[in-house]
Amino acid sequence: MFLDNEEYSKEKSLERCLTYWNPSRTKAWRQMGIDIMIGKRDGYYFWDLDGKKYMNLHLNGGTFNLGHRNPEIIRTLKEAMEEFDIGNHHFGSAARGYLAEKLVKTATPGMQYAVFSSCGGEAVDVAIKSVRYATKRRKIVSLVKCYHGHTGLALGAGDDVFKEKFFSGPGDDSYIQVPMNDPSAMEDALKHEDVAGVIIETIPATYGFPLPEPGYLKKVQDLCKTYGSLYIADEVQTGLMRTGKLWGISHEGVAPDVIVTAKGLSGGIYPIAATIMTKQAGSWVEEFGRGHTGTFGGSELGCVVGGKVMDIVTRPSTVDNVHFLADYLKQGLDRVQALYPDFFTSYTQRGIIFGLRFGVPEGGIKAMKAMCDHGIWAIYARFDPEVVQFKPGLLCTREYCDKLLEKFEMSVAQARREYFGV
Ligand SMILES: Cc1ncc(COP(=O)(O)O)c(C=O)c1O
Repeated sequence: MFLDNEEYSKEKSLERCLTYWNPSRTKAWRQMGIDIMIGKRDGYYFWDLDGKKYMNLHLNGGTFNLGHRNPEIIRTLKEAMEEFDIGNHHFGSAARGYLAEKLVKTATPGMQYAVFSSCGGEAVDVAIKSVRYATKRRKIVSLVKCYHGHTGLALGAGDDVFKEKFFSGPGDDSYIQVPMNDPSAMEDALKHEDVAGVIIETIPATYGFPLPEPGYLKKVQDLCKTYGSLYIADEVQTGLMRTGKLWGISHEGVAPDVIVTAKGLSGGIYPIAATIMTKQAGSWVEEFGRGHTGTFGGSELGCVVGGKVMDIVTRPSTVDNVHFLADYLKQGLDRVQALYPDFFTSYTQRGIIFGLRFGVPEGGIKAMKAMCDHGIWAIYARFDPEVVQFKPGLLCTREYCDKLLEKFEMSVAQARREYFGV
């Protein structure tokens, strides 16, 4: 096997990653006191290569919504491998057609097409290309402190921090950023009627899950309609039932022109992402089918896995569990917050998406480290380091939550003690 092999020891793996994989990223984590190298994984747990066990509350942004190595997903993939492979991206296929229909029919009203790709960034690229083609306009509006991926057009729509060094930022006036929850800034950006599309994470993850104010996203959609722009909902983190509805945007009464989904669609096992579009937004699919393609986008194995993921996340028992978890964890978090209100100062929640605020400088990094010490892995928010992203899985049990809340309380107490010194 792999993980028992001396070649895969923690020391050797760290050394190799520092030398051959990504020295700066590996070192940055170590400087924060985190040197996790994930080895064994099962359900909502993983083990460091040194043997330490963690509860996974990051889930890689929802990639492991259904747990690590979900048995149903693995069974489906094994069965699919008896008959399928990547497939040939020049042709349609049974698996591709099946998943496309499933996504379109379960999406918000008005959707017609699903175009596949291999990661969220590429699916955002497809969304941006599509709205440009459909409107014959070039400009894209996004929110300050958004994150839509590291690929070409997705990177362009994102924060300067990731693009300046690659000469993808300054000088390109086709990307405009406006602050969240500011409809008049949005109107100023759209009123010249030269914007192809607005792309918004329904609840911005890398910004620590600040909630859209009631009515804000609906207002944005109305503005889009007024000024002839299309609305792209980036549901990479908020989709697939994490909010208690299949798509987070449905809480807002918005039927977008485009939905982007990725991460969890893979079941954490086989890469697949999708851009779901209305007939208007996806008009190139009708007129210029070669407009976007990639060998691995819409791999048949990925499509079979994606279909099974859709079945599991829409099952009544899964939906009930998400609602249960949302209530139960809220009660637990309220309890801990009441104990340490000067450190764990507030939190946002929609379904089982939580942004926990530790209202002191870099409080999220301090809390992340303390949680790590207690065997919880939850990542701080890159664009608001007071916040920890706290994202339990759809199928977590009450027993898992009890253990989690116990460890969480100890972590908060420790981080607070370390910060205040008492
Ligand atoms: C909201 C959002 N959009 C897009 C992406 C890009 O997805 P991927 O990493 O699969 O390219 C991410 C990844 O974290 C994300 O959080």
